[in-house]
Amino acid sequence: MLIKHTPPIRSSEITSREVYLSRRDLLFGASITALSLFAPQRAEAMSLEAASSPLSTDEAATTFEHVTSYNNFYEFGTGKDDPAKNAHMLTTKPWSVKVEGLVSRPTEFDLEDLLRPITLEERIYRLRCVEGWSMVIPWVGFPLSEVLKRVVPLGSAKFVAFETLHRPEEMPGQNAFFQALRWPYVEGLRLDEAMHHLTILAVGLYGEELPNQNGAPIRLVVPWKYGFKSIKSIVKITLTEEQPPTSWNRQNPREYGFYSNVNPEVDHPRWSQATELPIGEGLFAKRKPTLMFNGYGEEVAHLYEGMDLTKFY
Ligand code: MTE
Repeated sequence: MLIKHTPPIRSSEITSREVYLSRRDLLFGASITALSLFAPQRAEAMSLEAASSPLSTDEAATTFEHVTSYNNFYEFGTGKDDPAKNAHMLTTKPWSVKVEGLVSRPTEFDLEDLLRPITLEERIYRLRCVEGWSMVIPWVGFPLSEVLKRVVPLGSAKFVAFETLHRPEEMPGQNAFFQALRWPYVEGLRLDEAMHHLTILAVGLYGEELPNQNGAPIRLVVPWKYGFKSIKSIVKITLTEEQPPTSWNRQNPREYGFYSNVNPEVDHPRWSQATELPIGEGLFAKRKPTLMFNGYGEEVAHLYEGMDLTKFY
């Protein structure tokens, strides 16, 4: 079981000392609100470990350098290093997110409005990605449910659809001759999955504002699902009655289903999903067995009771 109820690993143990010390000035506490969160001045002395969510894993985190240089963000190219090279082109201020569809109070939130009532926590979630690699990332985020409650879902709402920004002038992948995906990138969750306390909107990592290549300024993190469910740079959230389309299912329905729960027992048609390669452990890193629901089974298995997960992959 990866969720731990005692303080997780200290960031000083998982990052190099110089990097940790140079970042200390940017660290922030759980009790400060988002508006002061990324202020350039020194934050109150508050350690990462004090600010960590009780849901954090006790596994060592992947280094900041690996988390921010090995990415999938096809709007900036299909190579793992393309987002780190190209995502600086994206303007993330100002930013707003529309939340609409089957809700009583459809709202377009400025990012600041979205964060204002929320006390951010430092959370460490383990995110496993579909290619068979895995990372442990100390996200800064808050439950998506907080936003959904503010717009008051109607009884008819069954699903939540997400959409990434479409801005070809700043996202070269959306302009490329070879279009890797249909734009904008879209994703979806069942409403009960979206309301789950492990489903978060991330606005930072390692105590810093979210780097562009990781989905700035706001992205989804669903730690028990394969990485592609965690849609980046979100501009629209729509509550729907029907199951919404998802980018990878649209691209290749035989290989990618709607649910995409981490499941070592169900192979991808072209590769086994039984093991994963931890990123950043060097040339001789050993593959590790992948856990059902990425280790969050105790928290989420009940959502799928009675469902055949080989059919609903
Ligand atoms: N969101 C958008 N908008 N575009 C993308 O190409 N890639 C997905 C997901 N979210 C993607 C996206 C995939 S395939 C993965 S594995 C994760 O983002 C990677 O997130 P990371 O780079 O922060 O590890």
